[in-house]
Amino acid sequence: MNPGVRLAGGQDMPAIAALLTACGLETPSPAQTARRFWLHADEHGELTACLGCEAGHRAALLRSLAVRVDCRGRGLARGLIETALAALSSEGVERALCFSTDAGTFWQSVGFVEVPVGDVVAALPDAPQVRDYAARGMLPEEVAYCRGLATTALDEARGQRLVRDFIARHALTAPPEARLLDLISEVGELAKTSLKATAYGRTSFVPDDAWRDEIGDVYFSLLALASASGVDLDHVLGATLLKYRSRHARSGEIGSTQIRGDDHD
Ligand SMILES: CC(C)(COP(=O)(O)OP(=O)(O)OC[C@H]1O[C@@H](n2cnc3c(N)ncnc32)[C@H](O)[C@@H]1OP(=O)(O)O)[C@@H](O)C(=O)NCCC(=O)NCCS
Repeated sequence: MNPGVRLAGGQDMPAIAALLTACGLETPSPAQTARRFWLHADEHGELTACLGCEAGHRAALLRSLAVRVDCRGRGLARGLIETALAALSSEGVERALCFSTDAGTFWQSVGFVEVPVGDVVAALPDAPQVRDYAARGMLPEEVAYCRGLATTALDEARGQRLVRDFIARHALTAPPEARLLDLISEVGELAKTSLKATAYGRTSFVPDDAWRDEIGDVYFSLLALASASGVDLDHVLGATLLKYRSRHARSGEIGSTQIRGDDHD
């Protein structure tokens, strides 16, 4: 366990509640509070950081993460999370999940990726925070994040790993620029399928087997392009969703109104 980090006991709960309030987080009622807390205390025994957890069999929900204002930026939150995840992993938990509407970039910087809120509800239907948010009608506005516990680093997307292994096994390695042309040509084939399926726009479009085949080819090509250029698709997708979410909050639209060099649609 990291120095200064320990599991909380009942006597710590008032200090934890005070820290959560000071950090602008809700202090849940005892019935709805996290079942377990890790905390960090300074050399005087004063609470500096806390992290709550509601663990199920194979998934755990992290919540109530707070670091005292004067102690931020020193890795305390990361240390608490790594301590909690190591303990949960040794208990057989496979995934850590959390809700966060405001601190998504933080969770991403410690290896979490955005997942549908429904994943959390399905994995931990009886977790106090899930029940509480459901009862208060908050789930539709929530954003959920997940980190697999098999590795400490961000997991490469599964599909991307499958494609990378396939390409290596069959000696199909190609540079990114060739992979880009391959992707464009697959998108062209997809377009051709749609033209044929609609008799060049004369009938309405119904996805058929040819369409599904071609979408699979496009997806393969995109995964191959991402691998060839060293991009983790889950990671960049998370960043894109955050960008769109903040644009939508700002302007009600997700498209950029002004195209800048670093801010294309
Ligand atoms: C978010 C919070 C817990 C971070 O605590 P911290 O101890 O300062 O975080 P750490 O020092 O461990 O930082 C870990 C990483 O997260 C990044 N990070 C820290 N705060 C961040 C923020 N607000 N936004 C984005 N990234 C952040 C750090 O740069 C660091 O990344 P790096 O190691 O790659 O440089 C703290 O700011 C806090 O208590 N905020 C108020 C309560 C809150 O929002 N809790 C989360 C509820 S979901």
